[in-house]
This record gives sequence, C-alpha cells and structure tokens, in this order.
Amino acid sequence: MYETENDIPQPRRAELNALMNQRLADAVDLQMQMKQAHWNVKGPHFIGLHELFDQIDEAVESYVDLIAERIVQLGGIAEGTVRVAAERSRLEEYPLDIADGHAHVEAVSKALSTFGHEARNTIDQADDLDDAGTADMFTEISRGIDKWLWFVEAHSQATK
Ligand SMILES: [Fe+2]
Repeated sequence: MYETENDIPQPRRAELNALMNQRLADAVDLQMQMKQAHWNVKGPHFIGLHELFDQIDEAVESYVDLIAERIVQLGGIAEGTVRVAAERSRLEEYPLDIADGHAHVEAVSKALSTFGHEARNTIDQADDLDDAGTADMFTEISRGIDKWLWFVEAHSQATK
C-alpha cells in the first residue's frame, strides 16, 4: 500500500481495499456482460433492449470508476484488469448462445441481481469497518443497480 495522510487506519484501509477489489472484479465482469447483451440481443424488442443494455453498461462503467478510484484514494492498488476480473468475479458466466430478448432479460436480471446482492452486503461490511464514505458509495451503487434491475425486469412482468 501507499503512504497517505488519509486518517483511516492502515489495517482498516487494507481490509476495505480487499473488499473493494472484489467488487471491482464483479463490476468489470458486469460491465462487459451488459455489452455482450447489447451486442447480441435480437427479437421484436430489439431496439429498446439494445439501447437499455448500453445505458446500463455506461452506468456500470461509472461504478467501476468510483470503486477503482476509492481504492487508490485509500492508498491501495486498483486491480481492474479483465484477467483479474475473470479470475475473481462472483457473477455467473454470461450465456454466449442466447439471442431472444427474453433470454437476455433473464440473463441480465440475474447478473444485476447477483451484483446487487454483493453491493448491498458491501454497505454493511464497510459500515462494520467504520468507513461511511465507502458505505455511502455502495449505497449509491446499490440504488442504481436496483433501478436498472427494475428497468430490465419490467420487460417480463406485464403478464402477471
Ligand atoms: Fe453499441
């Protein structure tokens, strides 16, 4: 770790950064999964889903940046390469052979839900480490993910 005048004690910063690097791996994976869906979706709802998945990709890119930069602010090293993400991500592998809008809605919903679960847990873990800043950042991310999950799931909820 790097020396910093940041007053969060070093051992706690180390724990926070390990936690955030795990979320960073998930977020990098999530971002590329959204692009995978954006590129490959087909069917009658093509244009809406194609554009929605791109919007989610952009939002997730901003979460990636928030997480990575907070790691560095706390004196750590952001481990944000695709190879690290592939090794550590807690998301399920995105199915490569799907095309239909419903299948992508289901796969994207699952990825968002998995990441949302981890983000919500991270709020509490950051709280336990007395870092309101990190907890607040994941509260913002978690709220965003909940919104995107709603946007995606609304495509399959009309028949209920
Ligand atoms: Fe595009």
